Amino acid sequence: MKTIKVGMLGFGNVGTGTYQTLEMNRELIEKHVGASVEISKILVNDVTKPRQVVTPDGVLTDNVADIIDNPEIDIVAEVLGGIEPASEYMLKALNNGKHVVTANKAAVAANYDKLFKAAADNDVSLRPEACVAGGIPILNAITTVLGANKFDEILGILNGTTNYILTQMTDNGLDYADVLKDAQAKGFAEADPTADVEGIDAANKLSIMMALAFGHYVHPDDIPTEGISKITKADIDKATADGCKIKLIASAKNEDGKLSYSVKPVALPTDHPLASVSNEFNAVFVKGNAVGELMFYGKGAGPLPTGSAVMGDILMAAKEIAESK
Ligand code: HSE
Repeated sequence: MKTIKVGMLGFGNVGTGTYQTLEMNRELIEKHVGASVEISKILVNDVTKPRQVVTPDGVLTDNVADIIDNPEIDIVAEVLGGIEPASEYMLKALNNGKHVVTANKAAVAANYDKLFKAAADNDVSLRPEACVAGGIPILNAITTVLGANKFDEILGILNGTTNYILTQMTDNGLDYADVLKDAQAKGFAEADPTADVEGIDAANKLSIMMALAFGHYVHPDDIPTEGISKITKADIDKATADGCKIKLIASAKNEDGKLSYSVKPVALPTDHPLASVSNEFNAVFVKGNAVGELMFYGKGAGPLPTGSAVMGDILMAAKEIAESK
């Protein structure tokens, strides 16, 4: 059987979850692909550092060229985070004819046009499913099985860290700073959690989702964005007394061809479908002109849910390669 070789850039929470997903479900994944799938190189800063997952000798490398310039690598999975050097590495990999899978919403949102153009110019795919809503397959859904729809509205809870913080403050009366530390320990939060709590991470995700759903790219800096760092215990208590729950809502609406969008905390009545989405769970509500209303729900953060999304995109890229050979 042919072997499809994957080079992974990064081996943090998401990279570890991706590696573990392949190890857990290899037989099933390879059956779908019709070929063997091997993560044969992983870029890390320190090859000697002890890790949660042990890899075979020679897999870890601190030289990015071993992956992006390596003719044996078919797919590059970028799970580094941060806009640079991740964007530069992805562009180089695409220009070298490699399919690219990424969980890096900041890089894709900032360089959306450049990255997709490089993929098209080189006749390879750029697959960003893991960028938005962790394990929920929202991007593949809106671009494939829902592709026959015009979308009127997409809104959702797209950040697991802030939803975890708001849930714990509301349901258990916990303190903002303590819950944030807990979210970091569980691997939900970004390396710099400012991106989570200030709504920047949700704006990056909304930017990618809007570009794919409405064919209209808006740079995340141009999305009106307000996070949750100013939400006080008094705000939470007032929302509870009013029969509401505060949620960080990312929304995009298309009214007669005019797109409006924002990320901001909203007090939702407790019987609203998004009000019951708790902790690190995300949910996305979609309204299409043929399908009507749909709701997607699942874990929006964490190593395995996000690893599942990365591995799913690797599976589809590998299948495309296996079928073209
Ligand atoms: N920091 C992100 C979140 C990780 O909390 O949702 C998943 O994208």
